[in-house]
Amino acid sequence: MDELRTKYIDAIAAAADEAALEELRVQAVGKKGEVSLKMRELGKMTPEERQVAGPALNALKNEINSALAAKKVALADAALDARLATEWLDVTLPARNRRVGTIHPISQVTEEVTAIFADMGFAVAEGPQIETDWYNFDALNIPGHHPARAEMDTFYTHRAEGDERPPHVLRTHTSPVQIRSMEKTGAPIRIICPGRVYRADYDQTHTPMFHQVEGLALGKDISMANLKWVLEEFFSAFFGTEVKTRFRASHFPFTEPSAEVDIQCSWEGGTVKVGEGDDWLEVLGSGMVHPKVLEAGGIDPNEYQGFAFGIGIDRLAMLKYGIPDLRAFFDSDLRWLRHYGFASLDQPTLHGGLNR
Ligand code: PHE
Repeated sequence: MDELRTKYIDAIAAAADEAALEELRVQAVGKKGEVSLKMRELGKMTPEERQVAGPALNALKNEINSALAAKKVALADAALDARLATEWLDVTLPARNRRVGTIHPISQVTEEVTAIFADMGFAVAEGPQIETDWYNFDALNIPGHHPARAEMDTFYTHRAEGDERPPHVLRTHTSPVQIRSMEKTGAPIRIICPGRVYRADYDQTHTPMFHQVEGLALGKDISMANLKWVLEEFFSAFFGTEVKTRFRASHFPFTEPSAEVDIQCSWEGGTVKVGEGDDWLEVLGSGMVHPKVLEAGGIDPNEYQGFAFGIGIDRLAMLKYGIPDLRAFFDSDLRWLRHYGFASLDQPTLHGGLNR
């Protein structure tokens, strides 16, 4: 019995894992285990022998069982310790630096422009980029034969053969949203519409897709003087300095009278600075909405009048943030985006500052 004890107690102490332990249990105290077989022999013993061997075998069985249980707990503890040692994590370490995306200058400037006009009571309106011939041209007093159609380098969509309807166009300006807004809300009205526009043109200052923001204000007595104030107010807020403007008589089919507006700037060492110097830079077209346009939008020109303007957003972004080439805006070059992009949590507001 001493031999059995030494054999199993030593083996249990040396067992490497739960499977080895289970094997030992079967071998020693399982149904056909060595200790169990010995216990079966008790029946063949004399009562005297049995009185000695019985309790001794029972004690051995108990001893082996508790050794098995203790070893099982020890193995589990060791496994847990090993896991804790390898899976240890220092949660106080600084986080790994990750590249975050940036806000594109066009998006940034659109937000800035929107914040300024919202402060002056303009709501944001939208329209489709694929526009009907009517909204893009006719309703804006640009009939079929008008030279402005050709001048705008329009992209036309395809019509099936035999379909005589005029093809849809990629809107060449945001002005069709004037008509859509008039139809939607009627007068009085005060909206801006920032968005994409398209013209077949490509060089350092022209891309086939670019951005405008349209403005429209209609009321009983809105005049050219209101237009001038709104625009001067806008440019000063946008550039963060007082900006002189110059109104030049011009012509658009949808405004009468019409004016192109230049802002004061200086050219020194090849860079433009807005709000100083004696040079002028054209940034927008504007005027008093033509009576025919009001009529097309379902508004009585004898009752209402007002102004409209269209500003080039890309041009504004180039001027404000010193970006020399328009084409780079749309190249999706990560180096450019990281350099000219804006922090994503830095939303432009009038009180918090329009930019970083
Ligand atoms: N739609 C004109 C353009 O794209 C700009 C404009 C808008 C002019 C509104 C007058 C009034 O050039």
